[in-house]
Amino acid sequence: MEETWRAVDVYFEEKLATTDETMEHILKKNEEAEMPSIEVSRAHGKMLHLMAKMAKATTILEIGTHGGFSTVWLARALPEEGRMATLEVNPEHAEMARENIESAGISAEVEVIEGEALSTLPSILEKGYPRFDFIFIDADKENNSEYLDWALKLSKKGATIIVDNVVRRGKIIEDTDEKAVPQIRDMFDQLSKDDRIETTAIQTVGQKGYDGFLMGVVK
Ligand code: DHB
Ligand code: MG
Repeated sequence: MEETWRAVDVYFEEKLATTDETMEHILKKNEEAEMPSIEVSRAHGKMLHLMAKMAKATTILEIGTHGGFSTVWLARALPEEGRMATLEVNPEHAEMARENIESAGISAEVEVIEGEALSTLPSILEKGYPRFDFIFIDADKENNSEYLDWALKLSKKGATIIVDNVVRRGKIIEDTDEKAVPQIRDMFDQLSKDDRIETTAIQTVGQKGYDGFLMGVVK
């Protein structure tokens, strides 16, 4: 089955331009640097791009840059004068992301903020960013509840919030200690009581296996 999921993603690449030279260059660079290949898939990257366009986002925040693959997809959705901040804890990944962002020709719009997100989030508005229209959470899953809380504090009314990797091959419904699953479940518990955002979650299959994402609109 996984083979079919991959093949269908490749079919979409051919038919729907879910990749291009710039994105392939970034994936190659990340692979050469032996970074874990945990970027969003090509189709998922383009989906984020289209969602940011649908939201008419002029300010985007990403928590968890990795090598900048999703960063570039998202930043490409910005209009002129748009701005994006992306937060990365690993200095080597942040450096790689800066290079990839430069090679994609969008370094004027995007700032890579290095450091633990829970340390850099509290002062981000002081850096001159307005509240954000679109926030993508894709960092260490253990802190998802706190990232979501920050996202709600830092977003405009009507903003879109997306959280990656909330299904984890279905582990999300299991009472297991497996990596970050209890914390992702805590986030869902928090959401079930949170009246600041309207949410749904979608399961996905493809080149990255079986996972899913949460999406919400801030009330
Ligand atoms: C992991 C993290 C991700 O953001 C992802 O999309 C897939 C896997 C991980 O840490 O294993
Ligand atoms: Mg992810």
